Amino acid sequence: MSTETVTLVEMGLRDGLQNETTPVPAEVRAQWFDALARTGLRRIEAGSFVSPKWVPQMASTDQVLAQIERHPGLWAEVLTPNLRGLEQALAADADVVAVFTAASESFTQKNINCSISESIERFRPVAEEARKAGKYLRAYVSCVVGCPYEGPIAPSRVADVVEQLLDLGADEISLGDTIGVARPREIHALLDAVLPLLPASKLALHCHDTRGQAVANIYAALARDIRIFDSAVAGLGGCPYAKGATGNVATEDVLYLLEGEGFATGVDLNAVARVGHDICTYLGRANPSRVGRALQS
Ligand code: HMG
Ligand code: MG
Repeated sequence: MSTETVTLVEMGLRDGLQNETTPVPAEVRAQWFDALARTGLRRIEAGSFVSPKWVPQMASTDQVLAQIERHPGLWAEVLTPNLRGLEQALAADADVVAVFTAASESFTQKNINCSISESIERFRPVAEEARKAGKYLRAYVSCVVGCPYEGPIAPSRVADVVEQLLDLGADEISLGDTIGVARPREIHALLDAVLPLLPASKLALHCHDTRGQAVANIYAALARDIRIFDSAVAGLGGCPYAKGATGNVATEDVLYLLEGEGFATGVDLNAVARVGHDICTYLGRANPSRVGRALQS
């Protein structure tokens, strides 16, 4: 039997740094991108082309893209909330562009200042231009299990948004447990509602680890044939518009699980742990990754 592959999409430099109080210079972000690429990660979010008034930490993402090393098969990915963001992403030659909305009206309003249906309309020309430019289009749905403002979210609401994003031509959908409230049973219920709409190979799971359930949730999703997971080195992350949400699940923790389960990732866990340690030292923060800490001790 051949080894099955799992793809990790590295979030640390976007979802991670967007939530740090001190902005990190583009030059340093580019160095971290290169260091992460050397660990074998092949999909790395480099930043976002959003309003710097909304998320100042992501300013100068164009400079990050200009300074990173490019290799065949290495994807530099960015968030593009509107046409203006997409134009910047195309000028910077990002490989993947990502639109983002939510299954909760309140969160969408707080995060991108519009309703869910307005967000879909805003994404229509973004998707069209991305397709013309030959870019891979990722689409995020946030708050897939719970919302910081509305509480529990029914899986049918998520399915409704996923359908609209597929209609736009999204190549891949990432389901975000933005505030880290999900448990395996809720992940199964979510996938029961969403998997009939698209092949499992087009679906990613994006877990925040606020309540320590992310690895269990990923394990549940693996059993449902999900093979793309978003994670952040050293568990960096959060969302400025989701108070109380802590970091993404740590890339180190996910890699440890995947290695144990016999999946191939092409990523060197020890090398990721070293980068995670260096980033935490730079930021002067503790390393929340249990695996990362164990490997450093
Ligand atoms: P708005 O205020 O409604 O839009 O913001 P606007 O068109 O009126 O523009 C306001 C100002 O922003 C204007 O500048 C525009 O030029 C500028 P001013 O005239 O005031 O000087 N602007 C831009 N600047 C740079 N790049 C752009 C851009 N667009 C407008 N692309 C907008 C709407 C979407 C722009 C705003 O709400 C925004 O930037 N939101 C971003 C929020 C964000 O980045 N959140 C975090 C990422 S989502 C997330 O973390 C969840 C995820 O990880 C998955 C999960 O965990 O669930 C993905
Ligand atoms: Mg997130």
